[in-house]
Amino acid sequence: MDSGQIRTGRRPLNLLGPNSGAPVTSSLPTPHSPLLTDNFGRSHNNLRVSVTDRCNLRCTYCMPEDVTFRDKSELLTFEEITSFVRVAATLGVNKVRLTGGEPLMRKELHKLVRLIAVVPGILDIGVTTNGILLAEQAEALFDAGLRRMNVSLDTLDATRFRELTRRDGVEKVLAGLAVAKRAGFAPIKVNAVAIRGFAEHDVVPLARYCRDNGFELRFIEYMPIGADSWEREKVFFASEILELIGREVGELVPANTDPSAPALDFAYRDGSGTVGVIASVSRPFCHSCNRIRLTADGKLRNCLFSLDETDVKDLLRSPSLNEEAIKNALRQSVWAKWEGHEINAATFVKPDRTMHAIGG
Ligand code: GTP
Ligand code: 5AD
Ligand code: SF4
Repeated sequence: MDSGQIRTGRRPLNLLGPNSGAPVTSSLPTPHSPLLTDNFGRSHNNLRVSVTDRCNLRCTYCMPEDVTFRDKSELLTFEEITSFVRVAATLGVNKVRLTGGEPLMRKELHKLVRLIAVVPGILDIGVTTNGILLAEQAEALFDAGLRRMNVSLDTLDATRFRELTRRDGVEKVLAGLAVAKRAGFAPIKVNAVAIRGFAEHDVVPLARYCRDNGFELRFIEYMPIGADSWEREKVFFASEILELIGREVGELVPANTDPSAPALDFAYRDGSGTVGVIASVSRPFCHSCNRIRLTADGKLRNCLFSLDETDVKDLLRSPSLNEEAIKNALRQSVWAKWEGHEINAATFVKPDRTMHAIGG
């Protein structure tokens, strides 16, 4: 989609804003709002930046076995990403999460962390990694200013790890988590995708391991965003996960949850740790969504499930950076955001990009 031009997603939106002829008071959001407010009144301060579509695993729920990655020349440079973050920060973005593919496969990621950490207005930087390269890079990332680390790990069992990721390496992930903890990262969150038929075996061992190590475990309901055939029957629901942990590991009580965060948090009654569930399917959190995404090849996406994208790579590569054009692209993209993902509706359409090419 050309920047400045609006296309609707699944659901037609009122894109006309204040010039539609309808009476609109000045307190309502408009496509020209100084901050990134959408048509449903949600403001967007949380930017997820994918730094590469490459990955050293091939998780079945995320990407096909045979996958063609983008040529490096198509990826935004660290300078281009930083320029984008700087512009987004002027529109109220204050939180950045670096994702992939596998972000630690992007050479010298710590240099990007260092560049983003000094952008005025950015208060919080996180990375979501599969942990394979974490032991090697944790210290450099910590030294660059990173403090928050989310590590994806679905099982502690080597055979099951290979089955889910089509690669070996669970011992590397566990070593990476140990190094990250020693380096001082806090919080360290562990994300596990919950697929019925798999997760039943992994929920309890993962919960015990994370509680013993002080990691915040979150189970993510399996979503239709990979290359495999998703069915609702394959979702191991948040309620079932909580019931299993409560029965086998320890009694859980609701904990304070940030309303804009995707996870619902619970704490063990005895104070020994927390567990979260990201119930994207059974309890969508779209109504409080504060996220926008920049793909590794420079496309803006207003939703994980959006069907339209706005190119900003050309704007970032133009000889003199046109900040106003980037701001407009951001505003228009956010304004065109639909109400929610519609996973549970018959009208649901899966995006062409699979998760690894969007960013987790
Ligand atoms: P913090 O709250 O800053 O720790 O980040 P986070 O929980 O958003 O980050 P993380 O990357 O760990 O996200 C956890 C998982 O939530 C992802 O792996 C996705 O599966 C899911 N998720 C993240 N963003 C979205 C989103 O915008 N929509 C939906 N439906 N799911 C998302
Ligand atoms: N459903 C839910 N979460 C997914 N992830 C990847 N694919 C899916 C899916 N189909 C998660 C990974 C990781 C992040 C990058 O995205 O587990 O936490
Ligand atoms: Fe936000 Fe879209 Fe995710 Fe819903 S599905 S939480 S609208 S990004």
